[in-house]
Amino acid sequence: MLCPMPNDRYVIHGGAPLRGEVAVSGSKNAALYTLPAALLTAEPVVLRNVPRIADIDELAEICRTVGANVEIDGTTVRMHTPAITSTAPPAELIARLRASFLLMGALLGRAGEASCPPPGGDVIGARPLDVHFVGFKMLGATVEAGGGVWHARGPALCGARIFFDYPSVLGTVNVLFAAVRAEGETVIVNAAPEPEVEMLADMLVSMGASIRGHGTPTITVEGVPVLHGTDFEVIPDRLEAGTYLFAAAATGGDVRVTNAVPGHLDSVIAKLREMGVQVDAGEGVRATVTGPLLPVQVQAVPYPGFATDLHPPVAAALTRAPGMSIVHERVYDNRTLYVNELRKLGARIITAGQIVIIEGGGRLTGSTVRALDIRAGAATVVAALAAEGESTILDIHHLDRGYADLQGQLSALGARIERR
Ligand code: EPU
Repeated sequence: MLCPMPNDRYVIHGGAPLRGEVAVSGSKNAALYTLPAALLTAEPVVLRNVPRIADIDELAEICRTVGANVEIDGTTVRMHTPAITSTAPPAELIARLRASFLLMGALLGRAGEASCPPPGGDVIGARPLDVHFVGFKMLGATVEAGGGVWHARGPALCGARIFFDYPSVLGTVNVLFAAVRAEGETVIVNAAPEPEVEMLADMLVSMGASIRGHGTPTITVEGVPVLHGTDFEVIPDRLEAGTYLFAAAATGGDVRVTNAVPGHLDSVIAKLREMGVQVDAGEGVRATVTGPLLPVQVQAVPYPGFATDLHPPVAAALTRAPGMSIVHERVYDNRTLYVNELRKLGARIITAGQIVIIEGGGRLTGSTVRALDIRAGAATVVAALAAEGESTILDIHHLDRGYADLQGQLSALGARIERR
């Protein structure tokens, strides 16, 4: 992986259509679930198609602190955790990313206890953890806070029927980790059905877990006493794919994401078609712009609805659609940090609470903007690719956390993008 420097920036000469084919990396979020999953077994685990992004390195470092041997070789990660040597990973590492909190469920499942401070992650709104704790408690664990750290103890977890107030993605994964080795049957009602959660459950099944219903809102787990090693491949990143498809729309281009899974992108494909973009979905997904874009309304909601992570990129694309578009964010309460940055490029875009109103079709011109979180950064890239002239994108370490080779991929599509 490239070594991000704090002052690294992208310089983009926009205004030209993106054209060509690109293959996306393994899913960032799905890959982030596989490392904690590998802690659940004493046998070796091989993970393939893992994206070369900063968050994976951080999470590998955290797993090493609890006893895992982790080797990263390109997109293959080899993990072996013969014994858990600590159930309290260092607070400063946990604070670096959101997925680190999955060590709670993984350590609880493997070692019967875990202590973690609240995790870090993008500042995109209130990100409570109640769903995780309700799940742990229903399985018989005690959960207490003390000294800024959450402590969970459950040496003998028992299956239970658990209702989630909200279908939290990481909450579902964490509770699955605790439930796979609990005694008896666990049913999670209102679980997250995201493809990344479904894949994680597939990985656990490949390790000997008994799970059914994953990929739907009701997941049933029959506890097993022990999990074994596996050799498992991570699914393609639907959010990276969506970003390139909306970049194609924004620039009036023609892009095929060769390994995109159409079934993971129903909401994106439907929205692109509504925007007047021709979409071919079969072998990958191809978006071809054949005329002016049309304005649309988008609601960012849990899967299979339109992903909150693609809200900023679609909003950037909609600045090119003459007329009024509306994006309603219904997952996070601080997802709209990108709006001011797009205004610097000339976009006519405002927020009204969680609603973003875009008067599209005006001219975008190059400027200096900041990538304020991963997806806000993606929105600035999409808009800069569509803007006339030169744009500079600062704080691209956020983009490095989510996109393995943004510059290489966009260059392959004909973009003029340099990293300085
Ligand atoms: N929520 C609760 N209670 C909880 C947990 C969450 O009410 O206990 C609510 C939150 O307030 C929020 C909503 O649920 O409104 C979504 O949170 P969720 O827990 O589902 O999100 P997450 O698991 O923390 C993952 C991804 C995010 C992605 C969301 C939603 C990872 C590491 N992160 O976060 O990805 O936006 O699911 O799909 O998997 C990104 O990739 O840039 C990113 C932020």
